[in-house]
Amino acid sequence: MRDIRNIVILTGAGISAESGLRTFRAEDGLWEDHPVEEVATPEGFARDPDLVQRFYDERRAGILAARPNAAHEALGRLDASWEGELLIVTQNIDDLHERGGADRVLHMHGEALSVWCTACDARHRWTGTLRDGPPCPSCGQVAMRPDIVWFGEMPYQMDRIFHALSGADLFLSIGTSGAVYPAAGFVQHARESGVRTLELNLETSLGSRLFDETRLGRASELVPLWVDEVLG
Ligand code: APR
Repeated sequence: MRDIRNIVILTGAGISAESGLRTFRAEDGLWEDHPVEEVATPEGFARDPDLVQRFYDERRAGILAARPNAAHEALGRLDASWEGELLIVTQNIDDLHERGGADRVLHMHGEALSVWCTACDARHRWTGTLRDGPPCPSCGQVAMRPDIVWFGEMPYQMDRIFHALSGADLFLSIGTSGAVYPAAGFVQHARESGVRTLELNLETSLGSRLFDETRLGRASELVPLWVDEVLG
């Protein structure tokens, strides 16, 4: 780890599992008992906005009640003392990286604690509910939806992510199944840019064979050990 200066870290639902937030690809293929098409697509929202608003109201409440675990805190520790470039790209919509002390975080799939007004394009931090149709604080219209990137929508800040990947010395992936693109393609992009790649996951993922090294175990154990190693 001695020659490493610029790091890009991709995190997925596995890093928040030990904080009590469920991962997506459970054996039943449901997300919190719903088919993904019902609650995580623009079509699902158009079909039944009330169901989707209630679903994210519940996710928001669950996130507010959850606490960062040792893996989030270790990355917070890394962020506080790492003098090179660091970008934590998370697919997670929770704010546990931030509450674990990390600042250099990019939410490529949006955030549960943010809402987006489709009338005036404003975004607001939101800890309450949307099911009751509150007006947008900026324009007064009732047109706010969760600020979440649904299937079929473009993830946020892809140019910034690929730029960071191209200039990285190490790409680290933590707790993601490698099932959803474009995030699942980051390891390939890193390899083609000559970047070292390391995966920390509970079990082998769909992309494991593409990594230089995979370490299997719980994020709360593997991530603090890796941070100790890299801070040396
Ligand atoms: N420590 C480390 N890894 C874990 C842990 C743990 N304690 N618990 C589970 N995992 C691993 C699982 O083995 C799995 O490989 O985390 C991964 C979680 O995979 P998914 O549930 O598919 O979550 P993720 O990869 O983040 O999903 C990507 O899919 O539904 C969409 O937009 C949603 O951002 C999400 C995207």
